[in-house]
Amino acid sequence: MSAQIDLVIFGARGDLANRKLFPALFWLDHAGLLADSVQIAAVARDDLDTNGFIEQTRQTLQPILEKASSSDATWHRFSQRLDYINVDFSEQSQFSALANWINPDRTIIYYLATPPNLFGSISQNLDKAGCLNEHARIVLEKPIGHNQQSSKSVNNNVAQFFSESNIYRIDHYLGKETVQNLLALRFANRMINSQWDNSCIDHIQITAAETIGIEGRWGYYDQVGQLRDMVQNHLLQLLCMVAMEPPNSLQADEIRAEKVKILRALSPINASNITEQAVRGQYSAGWIAGTPVVGYTEEEDCSNTTSNTETYVALKAFIDNWRWAGVPFYLRTGKRLEEKVTQVVITYKNHPHAIFPDHKNDANNRLVIRLQPNEGIQLEMVSKKQSLKDRLSLEKRTLNLDFFDSTGDTRIPDAYERLLLEVIKGDQWLFVSREEIDASWKWCDDLIEAWKDRALETKPYAAGSSGPSKAEILIEKDQRSWYEN
Ligand code: BG6
Repeated sequence: MSAQIDLVIFGARGDLANRKLFPALFWLDHAGLLADSVQIAAVARDDLDTNGFIEQTRQTLQPILEKASSSDATWHRFSQRLDYINVDFSEQSQFSALANWINPDRTIIYYLATPPNLFGSISQNLDKAGCLNEHARIVLEKPIGHNQQSSKSVNNNVAQFFSESNIYRIDHYLGKETVQNLLALRFANRMINSQWDNSCIDHIQITAAETIGIEGRWGYYDQVGQLRDMVQNHLLQLLCMVAMEPPNSLQADEIRAEKVKILRALSPINASNITEQAVRGQYSAGWIAGTPVVGYTEEEDCSNTTSNTETYVALKAFIDNWRWAGVPFYLRTGKRLEEKVTQVVITYKNHPHAIFPDHKNDANNRLVIRLQPNEGIQLEMVSKKQSLKDRLSLEKRTLNLDFFDSTGDTRIPDAYERLLLEVIKGDQWLFVSREEIDASWKWCDDLIEAWKDRALETKPYAAGSSGPSKAEILIEKDQRSWYEN
């Protein structure tokens, strides 16, 4: 339960606030997880008053209000918390309106749902306007920088006004229930953890495939590409959760310290190995769920029809430490692929000698951790066929642990609900430390540099396919294949 906390959301009229933040805050209120005293200031440039903002928020939340039980009572309570403050973020003088709103005896959380180039100036303006005290927290959305150097500068700017223990860098994948479940699976189950290393595991695959394209964000996305948009943050965070050593405790600093070690142990992908270990692709026109869709360079707002920005990445990565030496981590992520799926697949080694003559000794045990959709964990095993005909024939069977409720009665909380709750509680365990940002950019910078140096072209793939054929080759040349559901 939160207490003595108020929240200020910069960019309160933007897409993130509408799609994620206000719905998440509403659900927290609905679940009784927001203390009665919590007030929320919505800050944006639009010329609007509090009543107008409340009405617009009600319209945005309408689909949720129709779904939630007793939503009228929650909405009544929630709307009373809201105030709208019109501020041009670059105008220091306008921050006085915010300063008047703030109660200096309470802890203020500043959520910056704004472009990252404003993080420094907003922090500075808050400071100058007297809006900060030693307890004030700041929440930053990705991307933190464009490379290691620029991320340092964003972090330095913010660090002038907030201590690291008050900075919450969001990676929304860490807010997903199944990502947190990786910790439970690994560290609460001795059976799993004792088999979690290079003596038992053959290889690991991490996939984040999307069917959507770039959703009207061409200008932004073309400067960024899939490596920066998805790998530098979400995929590397998943990799850390899978590969890190058991932390001494569940304290934020202990968990984050273990993740940093993994990021620092990633073997560089650079000019010497890039062609064997990395593939970039770009979607061309195709079909998604029976509907024709255009290629990346035909998307609305495309300003460079010869763009070489990647919308797909497949990588073969190694972690240079005792536990993982020699175990490949195959990562892949892309837009406009045939299905939306995020999963981690652990393929175990087989016994060194097979005694079942009719059975192909082929990846007998596999652990599939599905993060979305249909969250769950499957363990593939081999058992005897139930039959009198055969003496001892084997078949593959699957043990299922489903978190997804197919009746739809249980709502899985959105990642932002969990993350906002943790910021309110003041617990950084699901947020990315400065050192993690630094180490993940360093690894990605090497890769991007090598791509540039070798002028590696993106490989085309049809929208609705499983990605470029080069990505198949990347794994098949190791006598392995991508796991398909
Ligand atoms: C965002 C990326 O961080 O994550 C988007 O900027 C991407 O490009 C999104 O679509 C994917 O998130 P999720 O939760 O739908 O897997």
